[in-house]
Amino acid sequence: MGVSRRKVYVETYGCQMNVSDSELMLGILSKEGYTAVEAPDEADVILINTCAVREHAEQRIIGRLGDLYQFKQRNPRLILGVCGCMAQHIGEQIIARAPYVDLVMGPDVYRQLPEAIERIETDELYVSLSLDKTEHYDGVVPVRQEGVRAWLTIMRGCDKFCTFCIVPYVRGRERSLPMEEVLRQVHRVVDQGYQEVILLGQTVNSYRDGDRDFGDLLQAVAEVAGIRRIRFTSPHPSDFAPSILDVIASNDKICKQIHLPLQSGSTSVLKAMRRSYTAEEFAALIEQIRTRIPQIALGTDIIVGFSGETEQDFLATCQMMEDIRFDTAFMFKYSPRKGTIADRKLADDVPEDEKTRRLQTIIDIQQQITRESNQAMIGHTVEVLVEGESRRDPEKMFGKTDDFRTTILPGGNHRIGDLVQVKIVDSTGHTLLGETSHARSNCGDCPMP
Ligand code: 5AD
Ligand code: SF4
Repeated sequence: MGVSRRKVYVETYGCQMNVSDSELMLGILSKEGYTAVEAPDEADVILINTCAVREHAEQRIIGRLGDLYQFKQRNPRLILGVCGCMAQHIGEQIIARAPYVDLVMGPDVYRQLPEAIERIETDELYVSLSLDKTEHYDGVVPVRQEGVRAWLTIMRGCDKFCTFCIVPYVRGRERSLPMEEVLRQVHRVVDQGYQEVILLGQTVNSYRDGDRDFGDLLQAVAEVAGIRRIRFTSPHPSDFAPSILDVIASNDKICKQIHLPLQSGSTSVLKAMRRSYTAEEFAALIEQIRTRIPQIALGTDIIVGFSGETEQDFLATCQMMEDIRFDTAFMFKYSPRKGTIADRKLADDVPEDEKTRRLQTIIDIQQQITRESNQAMIGHTVEVLVEGESRRDPEKMFGKTDDFRTTILPGGNHRIGDLVQVKIVDSTGHTLLGETSHARSNCGDCPMP
């Protein structure tokens, strides 16, 4: 291979698991002498790390492939690869629709990347889509791309087979990284200067290493010196042992924020989704979480228009959102995914315009609740981990609170990575605006002389 083909551009779609996988891909390639570049026109190798979870994501990526083709027209030696969940899901179709693609690779075979790139020199196309239930990518040192927080995949795959979901098919069976390896990686993250670690897994709280569970892991990670904040995403409601809540409640380093996907507020829809809990059980879990950790911020995922969802089912979801008052929510219209149980056995029978109406209705409900939840923060002093300059105003900085609310604060002398006490003075829907104690020092109520 020519020495010149050493610049790789990775573009990531989808969830944080993909962000973490892209960092692993770069880790594997950088060991072979590749460097990451920031733009496709600087690259010899372009890899797009794709998402298959919803139809919309797949359509966007097909469109993007068309855009990237122009770089290949200008430079015929450029290698264009499609990796990740959508490659695993519809690899054959990608090859048929975009015959200029050189590489198609599923999420369990990234160790083959250097060899694949070599082989493309002589062969026309490299396709590798085997799933490997033993692949953890242990030993790979990720090339991290985000500023203050490090994503760390502690378990891969999923065994739950919710009827709407493609993940078990494209990411294979559930498997956990051994705890010692997780802890080694957390130490590395500290050595690299990160303040915050986010433990990732498709159902992160199903984590197991022998008889040690997710609560034990959280406790062990919290004991690592130097780590300041720990988050995790996404847990499954059915695997939330009370002991996990005890660990979160009793540990200052574990952020008081949980993203807990509800999907639907109707027990019959939950059953059709095979979510393994009823609406009442979910509500009881929320109650238990809020009792044990009163300051917790809660997020969720909701799907509207699933097969068989009646107006009454939909209203039950609206009611549940009003009752629980999640601080944030990601909301989606159901889109059937080829090969899933729902696609094979259930009719996609809610009309598209009705799905759109239902989605807009819950977005409106949630926007109001999120706005009120953020307004309730006004007057409170919170700790913000500074992430960077505000895009709108270079005099200001932005960062996240412990409960993951984006906050704008005066620049002052703060540097990226600082943990700063901020008094919240205003909020604009999704963002908090704060003042630091310096800015407050002449306000009259400051204890400083
Ligand atoms: N249609 C719509 N939304 C989906 N999700 C997963 N599969 C589908 C689908 N087929 C949503 C779920 C999940 C989130 C990551 O994406 O809410 O929690
Ligand atoms: Fe998909 Fe359900 Fe597994 Fe989540 S728990 S990844 S929704 S199958």
